[in-house]
Amino acid sequence: VEDVVETDVLVVGSGPGGAAAALFLSTLGVANIMITKYRWTANTPRAHITNQRAMEVFRDLGIEQQVLADATPHELCGDTVFCTSIAGEEIGRIHTWGTRPDREADYQLASPCLTVDIPQTYLEPILVRNATERGTQARFSTEYLSHVQDHDKVDVRVRDRLTGHEYTIRCRYLVGADGARSKVAADIDLPFEGAMDIAGSMNITFKADISQYVDHRPSVLYWVIQPGSNVGGIGTGLVRMVRPWDEWLIVWGYDINEEPPHLDDAEAARIVRDLLGMPDLEPEITGYSLWGVNEMYATHLQRGRVFCVGDAIHRHPPSNGLGSNTSVQDSYNLAWKLAAVLRGEADPSLLESYSEERAPVAKRIVTRANRSAREFAEIFDALGITGLTDPAAMAAMIEQRKENTPEGAARRAALVSAMDRKNYEFNAHGVELGQFYESRAIVSDGTRPAPSPDEDLYHVMSTSPGAHLPHAWVGDNVAKRAMMDLAPYDRWTLITGVAGEDWAPAAEKVAAALGVALTSVVIGPGRAVTDLYYDWSKLREVEESGALLVRPDKHVAWRAHTLADDPEAALHAALSTVLGRD
Ligand code: FDA
Repeated sequence: VEDVVETDVLVVGSGPGGAAAALFLSTLGVANIMITKYRWTANTPRAHITNQRAMEVFRDLGIEQQVLADATPHELCGDTVFCTSIAGEEIGRIHTWGTRPDREADYQLASPCLTVDIPQTYLEPILVRNATERGTQARFSTEYLSHVQDHDKVDVRVRDRLTGHEYTIRCRYLVGADGARSKVAADIDLPFEGAMDIAGSMNITFKADISQYVDHRPSVLYWVIQPGSNVGGIGTGLVRMVRPWDEWLIVWGYDINEEPPHLDDAEAARIVRDLLGMPDLEPEITGYSLWGVNEMYATHLQRGRVFCVGDAIHRHPPSNGLGSNTSVQDSYNLAWKLAAVLRGEADPSLLESYSEERAPVAKRIVTRANRSAREFAEIFDALGITGLTDPAAMAAMIEQRKENTPEGAARRAALVSAMDRKNYEFNAHGVELGQFYESRAIVSDGTRPAPSPDEDLYHVMSTSPGAHLPHAWVGDNVAKRAMMDLAPYDRWTLITGVAGEDWAPAAEKVAAALGVALTSVVIGPGRAVTDLYYDWSKLREVEESGALLVRPDKHVAWRAHTLADDPEAALHAALSTVLGRD
């Protein structure tokens, strides 16, 4: 007899996208199985920059402290250096990830969490551990082979790689979080724009204590400009901190149109010595691999009962540090919708909103990351070394910026603006946080957030339906809470003020009528939550008697500017629309 295992959701992949999906589903009480091809999680550090939105997700799920315990803290992340080698000459620095005092204010005002650095080798086990503790059935060394779906289920064929045994997992929904070479995405024939393998790159991991060169300019990234460093790769050579300050990863490019370079321990050590500028160093090489730079995104993310998240739908270089962050956030968007549909709280059409909301994000991050990699060319142009391959000629040109000559002055001026441009890679707060959704799961009131002075660099908080709930600190004399803490992932939240108190009984009735978890919070003096700094009053954009309906993923679904004549009817209509039940 054929083995068939049943579950509600099958997740393929245990990377940031898949492990997060499993964690979210288990937290919401949805039965799920997570399979992954290999015996354990990521075996190289890979993604590391963990931005505010991802940290907020971890805070929401109650694992923020676990992530922080394994992360390199925010204050060690941001003195990003451009140099001719680590021991060599410094060309300049840029404060990154919101560490420049003026930008730090933007970042702190926008979120209770700050960007930190946690390599994937540390993050994935935290996600997997919490997912399995909360109910996920994890199956390692198990490979997705194929699937067939009909109107009420998906039959997924998998292979146990230890025994070779093949069996079927029957699920209501399938989530393909199987990375940039996604077989699930290929099997459902998702439409893609762009190209794969547009440039060649390599990662080399090694151990060497180089604190003496870095702990006075602490950063997770040191960019090295040397002969060949603008060939392929991600803009220029990179020495990336994995653990301060004795574990590192080098990213170095090669020409994708040539024969791939032959890497062995000796060649890897040579590249390490060159980028560090330490000819006598004996680094401990711990690994190396070749990889391709991609510029590709899916324009639709679902077919029937099958969805894709993460690198399966957005494939791009690590520039801007968006890979694992966006993967986690894709799953955060999808999981509550799957739970709502599986519980019968929402019509299955709600699931279409996943593509409507996340496909534009995929396009935006792929475009931004590739543009950031290309914008390194401005630094090469500013130094006058574009196209030079001879080390001596290059070194001579790099010297020119020191000269008291018109050429020297021009080089210095060009460097100022080329360095400034890198804010679009390293302080792109608008790209990191500014996801505004327009979909069937949002009841638009025709407004949008106020225009940003630069939508890549600056995030503008707003309560326009579709925007993320703004951050402010609220609470009382014993507890300080972030606005997001009032609206946990397992429910809908209605936020109002003292003059809007009549929304609270209305919310109770609507919750009962629709059979949905919906809690109301009244913010104001003498209430459970007070507006500690009077910031919320200035951010809410509605009258005190108005209300915001916040989705489990913290996006505003609907808002009322003032108390409605019939608050129950108004709220019932809004929530029914979002759930596809009108
Ligand atoms: P991810 O690729 O992490 O996970 C895919 C999962 O699917 C794995 O668990 C795999 O086992 C599983 N899988 C695949 N096929 C399967 C099948 N048929 N059956 C079962 N399971 C299957 N980003 C960055 O910001 N900075 C960086 O330096 C790097 N460096 C880097 C190096 C290398 C070598 C890679 C591969 C990737 C990076 N990245 C990176 C990208 C970053 O790692 C990436 O954005 C996230 O891991 C994406 O997370 P996902 O969960 O979508 O896929």
